[in-house]
Amino acid sequence: MTDTAQIEAAARRLRAGELVAFPTETVYGLGADAANPAAVARIFAAKGRPASHPVIVHLASVDQLGDWVREFPEQARRLAAAFWPGPLTLVLPRGPRVSDAVTGGQDSVGIRVPAHPVARRLLEAFGGGVAAPSANRYGRVSPTRAEHVREEFGAAVGLVLDGGDCAVGLESTIVACLDGRLRLLRPGGITRAQLEAVVGPLTSTDEPAPRVPGSEKSHYAPATPVELVEPAGLEARLRALSAGQQLVVLARRAPSAGCAARAWRVLPNDAAGYGHALYAALRELDRCGAERILVERVPDHAAWDAVRDRLERAAARELPESP
Ligand code: TXA
Ligand code: MG
Repeated sequence: MTDTAQIEAAARRLRAGELVAFPTETVYGLGADAANPAAVARIFAAKGRPASHPVIVHLASVDQLGDWVREFPEQARRLAAAFWPGPLTLVLPRGPRVSDAVTGGQDSVGIRVPAHPVARRLLEAFGGGVAAPSANRYGRVSPTRAEHVREEFGAAVGLVLDGGDCAVGLESTIVACLDGRLRLLRPGGITRAQLEAVVGPLTSTDEPAPRVPGSEKSHYAPATPVELVEPAGLEARLRALSAGQQLVVLARRAPSAGCAARAWRVLPNDAAGYGHALYAALRELDRCGAERILVERVPDHAAWDAVRDRLERAAARELPESP
């Protein structure tokens, strides 16, 4: 666990412009002092991420928002009151002192007040905003355990605060609150229905949105190619491919007898339980040395939006030729 001395050491590192990995309830973040552009640049270097991509600024409290944004529209206030601290990021008009290193040069800034107790203690001890993307190399699966962060970065990240397994397990829901409209940019732990219960219907997302790396195809992907398969066709697909290939499966039910998969991982059949376990399961299956991960498609229901979004991105890379 994380004691006060570790939190203090982490806050000192942030003040010195160094990186600290820390847990949030969504995924682990790779943090730097958001007011120090050189420190933020270190995040991009460590991740191998293009510098034009914006990062989320994490705050201990909504009271600090005035340092970062120039407007806090009523609708955004209502969302913040309902869901902060929690797995929600609001994209708001940037304040005059926010650096381009954080915003990717855009006129907006992403802000989140996380709920994880270790994140909160770190943010309180540091006192300022902490810029943090997910603590994974660019384009890879986000970490939901401290050991995943160490797998990603080894000694390149000097301090990883360990807060155990992330409760949500998928990145935050992102809502842009710009030009008098609310747009859902990324589905996450807070569902569209939960948001709409507070602020009414959101604008649909099929119009041009601010740049979001998580919205690129083939984001969140394991190294092993991923193929999504309808539940009813899973065993048949497995039989068709397994003559020539080593396969692993991610499903919501146990395999039938005589199944040819090298590994078969069962995840819970509810969206929250599935989201919580998904990234760790993908990492495990990625290590099996299989040629393909077959993933049973999840239900069409809105409760599964965030999970379905991440699975579709994981499967977006072109698959090698198959029989
Ligand atoms: O749950 C999370 O959101 C985690 C934890 C660590 O907070 N962070 C995370 O960061 O997922 P990252 O960088 O992997 O994804 C953040 C997303 C990106 O898609 C980024 O483009 C978007 O937030 N974002 C940040 N600022 C933005 C802005 N001004 N306009 C549009 N999108 C923005
Ligand atoms: Mg990320």
